[in-house]
Amino acid sequence: MSRILALESSCDETAAAVVEDGRRILSHVVASQAALHAQFGGVFPEVASRQHIRAFYPVVEQALKQAKLRLAEVDALAVTRGPGLPGSLLVGANFAKGLALATGLPLLGVHHLEAHIYAAWLHFPDEQPRPEPEFPLVALIVSGGHTELVLMEGHLRYRRLGGTRDDAAGEAFDKVARLLGLGYPGGPAIQKAAAQGAPRAFAFPRARLRGSWDFSFSGLKTAVLREVRRLERAGRALPLADLAASFQAAVVDVLVDKTLAAVREFGARSLLVTGGVSANTLLRTRMVQEAPVPVHIPPLALCTDNAAMVAAAAQRRFDAGFVDDLAFDIMPSWSLWELPRPEEPIPQPQA
Ligand code: KG4
Ligand code: ZN
Repeated sequence: MSRILALESSCDETAAAVVEDGRRILSHVVASQAALHAQFGGVFPEVASRQHIRAFYPVVEQALKQAKLRLAEVDALAVTRGPGLPGSLLVGANFAKGLALATGLPLLGVHHLEAHIYAAWLHFPDEQPRPEPEFPLVALIVSGGHTELVLMEGHLRYRRLGGTRDDAAGEAFDKVARLLGLGYPGGPAIQKAAAQGAPRAFAFPRARLRGSWDFSFSGLKTAVLREVRRLERAGRALPLADLAASFQAAVVDVLVDKTLAAVREFGARSLLVTGGVSANTLLRTRMVQEAPVPVHIPPLALCTDNAAMVAAAAQRRFDAGFVDDLAFDIMPSWSLWELPRPEEPIPQPQA
């Protein structure tokens, strides 16, 4: 049995968690700064770093308390090393290094997107472990900062299929929500407004980018902006629900169509959808209904940023022999493709 205490502070959540054997969540604490940043309409990096400094000590203490463990009883430590906001990452990395120095425990610096992927293997202590995703799998990672379509041939092995050419899916939700005056974070606000609206009220564009696995959301964002300006010029009240529903439908259409095409093209045996935007109900429902293979989407609390997923990814790396030197630097713009791969051969799927 192995237990990892993990820390996460890549953006605006200060989080700590203890996970057993990379799958069973013993504790899971997230202090969100969303209310603090709402007044700026987005994350204010300087404010985020300072809030992480205030929050980490109590958050880590609570994670250990909930897990009924003392620090000396965990087997390893992990922290998000990147990608993310430099100041925020630094606070987490330094806090984790302090813990490692004080305890002599091994420390792993984890890639934030690898963490989002391994959220799919987690379960809460009162739940049975979910069935494990089978390889090869297609993973769609959709968050505030990233939209990546990945082929995973085995644990810790990633092949990039495509990604966004401009705005990330979550970023598009956040920008359009701001434009519509729906507040921050935008994803949940758009989803809520959309519930009362007609998804076909406005025919917003779907950037298909044929022949490529890439995505693009900036044209859609501009189309919403143009529609809003047109309505304003005409002196009309904004039909917020219809605008939100039509925008959401356009984003989800593109995400679903391209991801499912990749599942078929690469003969994937399962589909994984993760990252903050996978909290979206329409996206979840459509993927589950339309995918030709089993779909794995982490429960809501594990889709958005948390530290349990960091522990889950760290355990896979730890088991594959990876540990970091305490002198490691943060990696604010680290891509998944730069990660070292484990040495074992790729497991072949059974027919
Ligand atoms: O993964 P995450 O918590 O942080 C990053 O790593 O970026 O993702 C945050 C993003 C935000 O853009 C937020 O608006 C979006 O996830 N999001 C949603 C929903 N809940 C959160 N987007 C659409 N629908 C939702 N229900
Ligand atoms: Zn994230």
